[in-house]
Amino acid sequence: MRTQVGIVGAGPAGLTLAHLLQREGIESVVLEDRSREYVEQRLRAGVLEQAIADLLVESGAGERLRGEGIVHEGIELQFDRERHRIPLRDLTGGRSIVIYGQTEIVKDLIRLRLAAGLPLLFEVGDVSVDDLESERPSIRFAHEGAEHVLECDVVAGCDGYHGVCRPSIPAGVLSEFSRDYPFGWLGILAEVAPSNDELVYAHHERGFALLSLRSPELSRLYIQCRPDEDLAEWHDDRIWEELQLRLGLDGWTLAEGLILEKGITGMRSYVAEPMRFGRLFLAGDAAHIVPPTGAKGLNLALHDVRLLAEALVSWYRTGSSELLDGYSDACLRRVWRAEHFSWWMTSMLHRFDSGDDFDLRLQLSQLRYVTTSSAASTSLAENYVGIDRI
Ligand code: FAD
Ligand code: DHB
Repeated sequence: MRTQVGIVGAGPAGLTLAHLLQREGIESVVLEDRSREYVEQRLRAGVLEQAIADLLVESGAGERLRGEGIVHEGIELQFDRERHRIPLRDLTGGRSIVIYGQTEIVKDLIRLRLAAGLPLLFEVGDVSVDDLESERPSIRFAHEGAEHVLECDVVAGCDGYHGVCRPSIPAGVLSEFSRDYPFGWLGILAEVAPSNDELVYAHHERGFALLSLRSPELSRLYIQCRPDEDLAEWHDDRIWEELQLRLGLDGWTLAEGLILEKGITGMRSYVAEPMRFGRLFLAGDAAHIVPPTGAKGLNLALHDVRLLAEALVSWYRTGSSELLDGYSDACLRRVWRAEHFSWWMTSMLHRFDSGDDFDLRLQLSQLRYVTTSSAASTSLAENYVGIDRI
């Protein structure tokens, strides 16, 4: 088997890359180790920067997004039992965010690719990448009982944080940077209309909580929990009770409903540099992870593949490797901005058990500043909606 670009992973990064390349007449094969059902149901992100929503629409993958995506022009920060609105649109010269589930993006892209009859293989096994420093890198994999070797010009490692591409880079090549946080998020999807028109990021002495949504009928909510929390100890009543405590306000209660899904997510910051080794290019979570506060992970993944697609198009068209050579540095500038923003939002909003109230006092001071100073709220807003040039 032979293709131009071999893509490992059919998450948002791999599928979007394949889509952008196909529009420019560049062939790719996408290999995914999970089933189509699993990938389409895996509940994750929901907040798109406007530039990313625009990318999907302009590239022809946004038909449903345009109709069903919900535009939000602000978010709310809650602390000391009060809510404060950050008017994203007013503070950023008209930019907003779009609420549209990652699962829906993945479904849209899979449908487009399969409808076009283009190669996207699910449930592949034993994936390995070889000869990365040569001009003919290859991907070995098993599919439907047979072993295959896919020869490529370039391999795109879009296989997430636990994938095989990054670990295939020889020791000593990558510099790695990371932070672990002493908490996780317990997330639920509930069959109930969102209780607020905009997202609420709540600071509370019992820990952080977040009110979000997926549609006019579906709420998405998160609570800070221990990183090793046992989901079995969180029966539905306990989840709602905790959410009421952390999000509740005088005169406002959270509407409850049937919990359709629940899961626990760890929190980590991680960056691997450079995002390239020979003919292997890493994109998305394969190269970097942010804690979810700030909603940057999915957006970063799509910014990466936009740049990678542009660089590959230029290379195939002109023979110049200038953009490919600059790919890692160009991505990492945005990645580090998002790393900082996500770490900062996480630090400002979560409860740290540090023994005294020093951190708590700093958090409250910062929250007051961010919600009263136009300089500080503008900084939050421009990072949240996504910085144009970085
Ligand atoms: P992934 O989505 O991880 O995709 C990688 C794919 O590769 C997967 O399909 C995987 O099965 C496949 N794979 C792995 N190993 C192999 C292999 N060996 N062979 C073949 N395939 C392989 N981000 C935001 O921007 N906004 C948010 O609101 C937000 N909220 C989040 C909430 C939660 C609860 C979580 C967990 C994450 C959230 N994120 C958010 C982060 C976002 O979901 C990720 O950053 C995003 O999924 C990254 O996409 P990706 O394609 O790089 O990686
Ligand atoms: C959602 C996830 C986030 O990480 C965030 O900051 C905001 C919203 C969500 O899943 O809706």
